[in-house]
Amino acid sequence: MMSTIEMLNTKFGIAGVVQVVAGLGGLAAVRVETGEAQGLVYLHGGHVAEWRPKGQDEVLWVSQKSYWADGKPVRGGVPVCFPWFGPKADDKAAPGHGFVRLMPWTLEAVTQEDEGVTVVLSTKSDDQTRKQWPGEYVLRHRVTIGRELVMSLELTNTGREAMAYQEALHTYFTVADVKRVKLTGLEGVKYVDKMDGSKVKTQEGAVTITAETDRVYVGTTGTVTIEDPDKMRRIVVAKEGSTNTVVWNPWVAKSKAMADFGDEEWPGMICVETCNVGADAVKVAAGETVKMVQRVGVVRM
Ligand code: BG6
Repeated sequence: MMSTIEMLNTKFGIAGVVQVVAGLGGLAAVRVETGEAQGLVYLHGGHVAEWRPKGQDEVLWVSQKSYWADGKPVRGGVPVCFPWFGPKADDKAAPGHGFVRLMPWTLEAVTQEDEGVTVVLSTKSDDQTRKQWPGEYVLRHRVTIGRELVMSLELTNTGREAMAYQEALHTYFTVADVKRVKLTGLEGVKYVDKMDGSKVKTQEGAVTITAETDRVYVGTTGTVTIEDPDKMRRIVVAKEGSTNTVVWNPWVAKSKAMADFGDEEWPGMICVETCNVGADAVKVAAGETVKMVQRVGVVRM
């Protein structure tokens, strides 16, 4: 008898380009390899775990200590946070960053076009989600693995009432040494500093990481560039349909406190998250579809 993974591969595999495989923890994942790029997308959480355009080192960062199991988040890659961000406002016991990153998604389609291979995954409301959150929805994630990594997160409100939700493409990027990295594109933007009692501050110049950093930049729709002098590359993060950018690095103590994060791993990563969170939650009318897009490219320095 065929396993689920074999059946998915029969349905969605493209000879020499796309294969559905058992990834870490035996979780089903779509492996993409074209002349232009390689990538790996898990059905668990609709999670992009790898993306490497030709001639580059891996761009996404994943912890060696990550869990790879149903019901657990992945530490790294691109967690999809929905329908809330961080702790749930009215229930501190609810899972952080919502529940869709903990669940298996449905593989809907895999297509090959000039710009790359697009993997479409979805998840929708059911009796389990209604116990945690009342919204009726279909959430679709279209991931294109090509010279660019394009992720389009599309929410359709399938209920009869308007609803509001928060969302993030919580992308972990690999850097040579976060202490030597600069983020440009946020100059003059206001941010909520979660490391300083959520005070609102204004970004002066480029962002540099010199301590634990956890910031929500607000009212910003612009492109952020991660300048990595040691890898001699710039990672360019452009977006649509998003007014917040979160920048996060746990530094020393927080890394030690997290069971799924290696104590010494923090210099090798930075999160730059395309999102709509807090007061910028997205409001969507019944029947309406709204999308948020994150487009990542790499440029040699
Ligand atoms: C960031 C948040 O986006 O994610 C941080 O701003 C949080 O506050 C971090 O610590 C990691 O979250 P989690 O739930 O994956 O440990």
